[in-house]
Amino acid sequence: MSQPKYYGLNELREMFLHFFETKGHLRLPSFSLIPQNDASLLLINSGMAPMKPFFTGEQEPPRHRVTTCQKCIRTGDIENIGHTARHGTYFEMLGNFSFGDYFKTEAIHWAWEFLTSPEWVGLDPNRLYPSVFAGNETTPADDEAFRIWHEEIGIPKDRIFKFGKEDNFWEHGSGPCGPCSEIYYDRGEKYGCGKPGCTVGCDCDRYMEVWNIVFSQFDNDGEGHYTELKQKNIDTGMGLERLACVMQNVGNLFEVDTVQNIMKHISSIAGAHYGENAKADISLRVITDHIRSTTFMVGDGVVPSNEGRGYVLRRLLRRAARHGRLLGIHHPFLYQVCETVIAENAFAYPELVEKKDYIIKVLKVEEERFSKTIDQGMEILTGIMDKISADQINQAVFSGEDAFRLYDTFGFPIDLTKEILAERGLPIDEEGFFRLMDEQKKRARDARKDVSGWDTDEMLAVEGKAEFIGYEKTRGQGKILALLDEDGKPVDSLTEGMKATVVLDSTPFYAESGGQVGDSGAIARGKSIFRVKDCKKSPTGQFLHLGVMKSGLMNVGDTVKSVVDEERRMAIMRNHTACHLLQAALRQVLGTHVQQAGSMVDEHRCRFDFTHFSAMTPDEIARTE
Ligand code: ALA
Repeated sequence: MSQPKYYGLNELREMFLHFFETKGHLRLPSFSLIPQNDASLLLINSGMAPMKPFFTGEQEPPRHRVTTCQKCIRTGDIENIGHTARHGTYFEMLGNFSFGDYFKTEAIHWAWEFLTSPEWVGLDPNRLYPSVFAGNETTPADDEAFRIWHEEIGIPKDRIFKFGKEDNFWEHGSGPCGPCSEIYYDRGEKYGCGKPGCTVGCDCDRYMEVWNIVFSQFDNDGEGHYTELKQKNIDTGMGLERLACVMQNVGNLFEVDTVQNIMKHISSIAGAHYGENAKADISLRVITDHIRSTTFMVGDGVVPSNEGRGYVLRRLLRRAARHGRLLGIHHPFLYQVCETVIAENAFAYPELVEKKDYIIKVLKVEEERFSKTIDQGMEILTGIMDKISADQINQAVFSGEDAFRLYDTFGFPIDLTKEILAERGLPIDEEGFFRLMDEQKKRARDARKDVSGWDTDEMLAVEGKAEFIGYEKTRGQGKILALLDEDGKPVDSLTEGMKATVVLDSTPFYAESGGQVGDSGAIARGKSIFRVKDCKKSPTGQFLHLGVMKSGLMNVGDTVKSVVDEERRMAIMRNHTACHLLQAALRQVLGTHVQQAGSMVDEHRCRFDFTHFSAMTPDEIARTE
């Protein structure tokens, strides 16, 4: 069996995309790692993920044949990354896609041609083994794919493997899915486990799955219900780094040319060499993988935070920073290594070069921030771990309070603390941690909430819908639907001096929402006047006019006039406009990652909340102003 010809990772990417261009495919650039209009995913994890609407037929694709090399992140088992050489969080997926165009025959023929033709990567066909779906209760065996492999490609029957749903039915959460055919490459005995039954499908590194061809014909609603798609599609995925492993005849992804260059940069900073010390190798792999994923994440607009994607980013960066410490690096260094990531990927991802200064800055600020507390936090963590280890009798557990303190004061994401504890085999009271987290969140929420006490059950019972006329008018007429006293209890009438809420069926009063305060003014019936101090919306959509009865009497059912304090309303509107201008200016000066996280607008001022990776400099403030 012959050895593959060497190709660099960047060359392989180009070859693949070009091959499918010769087959009539439109080459699209990688989509962002941040999913658009898809709440089912935190980060893009496969080539097909950003194109789901093309598969379902909801959206017309730019062409019915598309090829991409997609940036992907999978974060299923971050704590294991580094400990094995097999996995990483970041990888690139090569894919060719048919949206209701060609199907099994072409997809299989082209995959075979690309892999075996000497004009392309030219692998030895004797080292390749396909697999097909064996069928289950709901979906029949894929005899058609079997036939194509055997009759048309000429693979002997005993070299075609049949596997069940686990291996040969591709789905990832909800969305388009279907049975698939995989292609395995035999890397040779030296990669094998040597066990008697070792063959395709074995867990060891000998038979490596390189390409997955999915016959995408079902839609999974995310709860295991499958419906037939309107059209039959092809979704293929080949890990670029895996293909490079094969072509470069190296053991794993970390030894692939471009990835190895990133690791070498880390090695030169740490003065450690890969392959010399098993423990240091773990750290080198962790940092190499995490700096790749985080560079790309920041490039696509993810900012470190304590939630969602931002948390994944923070967790990866802090995990990498800790492994830097384990290698003896005691200063921020990830921002330097990220320059090599950018250089190695400059050709395929020019956006990284464009955003280089920004990416470096985000990484540096995050690293510096953690740097300040990591040593102190580690010291405390180690101290507690030592105490627990010594305390054999009580089977002590790392407390939720300590984990929370490490998080709150020293910036240790809970997952990092857990991982460090697991290295020592120590349990943690995670429930206790999350209880304290919830309490902290609730305190923050309560601090924001003003206690109006108006969403009482009685309020929910008020019938009739309110019409809002305040966009056109500041004066109007309406009927009183309900009156509530100070405690939120329904009353029939209001007398002078009563603090109360008036509910109208039509109102020009703007009710507090979207950070804009409610209007003030008056509600009147002849000489009876109710002074409106604030207006809020009830959970049922009613307009609640909060205030005090200045004079006279008012009853449920009365027709009343309402007048908004116009001068105040205009001042509020000007500040609301200012808030939008401020946002636009911030996006120009700091970048488009600036998004509204909250805001407050009243007649005196506006406040705009947003997340940025560092405090603004005086110059940035001046430019924004
Ligand atoms: N979507 C398929 C995969 O990710 C091709 O393996």
